[in-house]
Order: sequence, then C-alpha cells, then structure tokens
Amino acid sequence: MMRRREFLETGMFGTAGLCFAPKTGWNIFSNSRTADSRIDVLFDEPLGTISPNIYGHFAENLGGVLYDGIWVGERSKVPNTNGLRTELIEHMRKVKAPVIRYPGGCFADSYDWRDGIGPFEKRPRRTNFWANVESDKSPASHRYDPNAVGTNEFVHFCKLIGAEPYLAANVRSLPASAFQQWVEYCNSPAGSTTLADTRAAAGYSEPFHVKYWGVGNESWGCGGDFTPQQYAVEFRRYSAWLPSYGDELKLIASGPNTDDWNWTREFLAEIVRKGPGQLQHIYGMALHHYAWNLSRGKTQDWDAGKGDALKFEPVDWFELLREGERMEGLVTGHWQVLSETDHDHHVKLIVDEWGPWYRPGSEATPGDALEQMPTLRDAVFSGMTLDIFNRHPEKVAMANCAQLVNCLNSLYLAHEDSFVITPVGRVFELYAGHQGGNSLRTVFSAPNLRYDRDEKVASFWGLKGSASVRGKELTITAVNPSPTDSRLAEIALRGAAAKNASMTFVTDTDIHAHNTFEQPHAVVAQSKSLSVSGGNLVVEIPPASVTALKIQLNS
Ligand code: AHR
Repeated sequence: MMRRREFLETGMFGTAGLCFAPKTGWNIFSNSRTADSRIDVLFDEPLGTISPNIYGHFAENLGGVLYDGIWVGERSKVPNTNGLRTELIEHMRKVKAPVIRYPGGCFADSYDWRDGIGPFEKRPRRTNFWANVESDKSPASHRYDPNAVGTNEFVHFCKLIGAEPYLAANVRSLPASAFQQWVEYCNSPAGSTTLADTRAAAGYSEPFHVKYWGVGNESWGCGGDFTPQQYAVEFRRYSAWLPSYGDELKLIASGPNTDDWNWTREFLAEIVRKGPGQLQHIYGMALHHYAWNLSRGKTQDWDAGKGDALKFEPVDWFELLREGERMEGLVTGHWQVLSETDHDHHVKLIVDEWGPWYRPGSEATPGDALEQMPTLRDAVFSGMTLDIFNRHPEKVAMANCAQLVNCLNSLYLAHEDSFVITPVGRVFELYAGHQGGNSLRTVFSAPNLRYDRDEKVASFWGLKGSASVRGKELTITAVNPSPTDSRLAEIALRGAAAKNASMTFVTDTDIHAHNTFEQPHAVVAQSKSLSVSGGNLVVEIPPASVTALKIQLNS
C-alpha cells in the first residue's frame, strides 16, 4: 500500500502549485500564497430547490445490513429501541436522513411482504436472495431470513429517524394483487380493511402513509430479466388503479443501469403507447450507477475489473473518481432521453443506488456479504457525487447511497456492540445543510491535475463543488481531489456579501485513511473560522478533502 508521501515522490507528473509536504503532515494553511483557484457563486442564477431526498439511503436485506446493522433484537445487550440499534438511529437523525429505501435491491423481487407481518413467532424463515454469496462465516440469519424485520419494524425505524419509507415491491415473483395489498396494509385507514386490522393488532392502528413505492428493482436483471417493453407493460399493470387512501403515491419505475440509454428510451416509448396520460403514473425513474471498474479499460468483467477498497495505488484513486464523475453525464444524458417522450419533464430521476463497489476482502465483520471498508477515497467520491446531484436539482428528485450500514458505500459499520462512522458518514454530516436549499450556479476554476495512467499523462479537474442558499446562510461544498496539493481559492459572491464564515473539512495525510472499530476516530471532521474581507473571502482547501463552507450573508 502506498502512502500519500510516496505517491508524491513517485506517482505524479507534477501539478500547478505543487507543494511538498513535511514528513510529519501537510502544511495546509499557509498565508503567503496567492490564490490559484476561484469559486464564483452566482446569486442571480438559481437552479432550483435541492430535494432533501437527494440525501437518501438504501437498506437491503443483505449480509449484515438488516440483521446486526439495523436490527439487534429487543433482548440484545446492544442499546436498542424496540430492537433497532439506537446509536444508528441517533446518527441518522444527525444527518437528517430524509428517506430510506427497503427491502432491496435484488432482494425485493424475491420478497413476500406477508412473511414479515404478524406475531414474530409465526413468521416463516425463508432463503434469502443473497444466500449463495454468503460464506461459512455468515450467521444463519443472513442466509435464512428470520423475518424479524418486516414492514412494521422498518416503518417504525424510519419514524424514529424522521425519514420517509420507500418500499420496493416484488414484480418478478408476486402478482400485482400482492402489491396492491401491501399498499392497503400500509395505508388503509384504521378499521377500514382486514389488513388495517392486522396492522392495528401489531400496535399500528394509524396508517403508515407510505408515499414512495418502487415497482420492482433492476427489472432488466435480477428483477425479472425483462426487456424495457415487457417491463413497461408490467409497470402499467402494477400501477393501474392502485388504491391511494388519500395519499399521493409516488411510483418509481425500475430504470437503467448506468448508460443503458436504450432502456430509458424504450421503456417510456412503450408506456405512452397507451397514451401520454400514462406518464402521470410515474413519479420517477430509478437510475443505478456503481463505480466498480478500476481496470482502466482493460476488462469489462464484473469480477476482474474490480479494485480493492484498501490497497490501492495513486492511479486507482483517480480511476475511482473518474468512474464516479460519469454520474453527471448519466444524469444529463438520461434526462435528455426522457425529454424525447416526456416533454414537460414530469418524470424525475431517482438515483436509488450509487457508490463504489470493490472486490470482497475488506469486510469489518468477516462473513458480511458485500461489506467493504470505506476510506478517504470514498469520502471524496461521495462528496463529488452529492455535488453533482446538487447541481441538477430540477432533474434529480431522490438519491439513495448504497448502502446504509455494513455494505458497499456505508455511512456506518456496526457489529454487536461496536459502531463506527465511516469517512462517507462524515461527508453526509458535512452536506446536510444543503437539504432544501436553493441551488445556485457556481463556477469553480482551478488548474487541472495531471497523473500517470498506464504511462500516459491523464488529467482530472482540480476543484469542483456546489452551493445553495437558505435565507441568509450560504453553504458551499467543495472537493479537492489532489492527493498532494491544497487549493487556495478566492470566493466571490456575485450578488451578495459575506458577513462571517467557517469551514469544516474531512481529510487525512494518508489517502487510505479509514475508521475501524479499533480506531473509530482516524478520520474526523475539523473546523475553523475564516476571515472575510469586503464581503468575499479566500480559503485554503486541503488536499484530498471534502469541505463545507458556511457563510452568513449580510442582510
Ligand atoms: O446494492 C447491491 C445490489 O446492487 C442491489 O441488490 C442491486 O439492485 C444492485 O445490483
């Protein structure tokens, strides 16, 4: 594993303003430099309101996400609230978690929601969709679903956090009537139906008012291997005449994998074959994009193309960011394709799975399928991705980081009574201030970075981010992807003046830095106040960092 200092000496071709760090760390706050970058915030170019749901989460019944991560059981010695891990709930309140998607993912299209209601002792044990990827280190509950967590427990978890539940229905292996009845179980008024009575018997007489419903998941793959045309027919059938019980149901269609433009185009074309009014049934189209291929174009093989979460070279740092950077083109590209049919842009993009996906081997808890160890690289990736969503508020209505705990790009790792916030979790803390803010067009100018990619000079942008304003508070978030150089940025507020400002940032001298159960505070956020002059300011943005600036504006 190469540490950042070695990278500096061996990996870079050189960058503008390269500053060599002392062995002890990085001199990131010097006063004598002149600015090498600019951030121009354009107050008269608002882009729209940032949906809080862009900061959403995803919790699948997979590996250690549900059992151990979220659910510990009422009799556990782990502090819990009705069986749900209390520490997790508290941290999710802190990041203002707005929405959580459940129960999958691929699991959703194998799940019968009726197994997860009623008295615990009567709930059946079923083979989990992911049973085949579990190892002999996995506990039985990961392979054979005990159904201790079902709709009641999940919705209760959301309520404790203050988040909206987003339930994904089974289209591959249950009929449309089962979907309708799940809606009935959740939303029919107290005393109105047999299922409302069943819900009341479990202690929930009032309806759950679940608004967000996924109609299948990855219907092009694990969700049924449909063609876009076949899936569109299914979508019309599953969404036709759903009872609403006064709630405005927001149905989310299974959308494309990464750059499958054909899926988006053909799905919508088939939907409107029955008339343009059919578009009204679709709130959003799900887009999934994982950054998994770190082979630098050498293979498209799902296993061979993956990199390691912890052991990576400088070139892999940039390769992951390049793969993540594709998100902006996917958002604008699928939006463009949607507009070919949906001229008024009724259908929004719901990026309900995103994040890096590495090969197995870095699990904090051996035996947790698909668990990986997030590092500073993943924090930078996550900041960059959230900034992309912030820059497209009119297009992206929701996004769900995959996945919440003990999985891919997790905010938290938990095992028995151990719990840790990952560098990704730190980024969500930093970015919470954007939720519901008015996104402003903001121009970031900085020298491009250059690095060695298979003996060719490759380049990557030097500074990017987003800005939003709420009342008199401006939030700017910025990502500096350079592993070696800080950026000294002049911030010009076009149409406003700063009164006072502070910054909070996540970085480390080691690009591989991560938090473990043994060392939970290796990567933490640091804060400092900034001086303002003439309504503007100059800020030094550390290398390999994610930064949030809070700026109070003059009235
Ligand atoms: O997040 C893990 C899996 O990735 C999900 O179950 C599936 O939807 C996607 O392929």
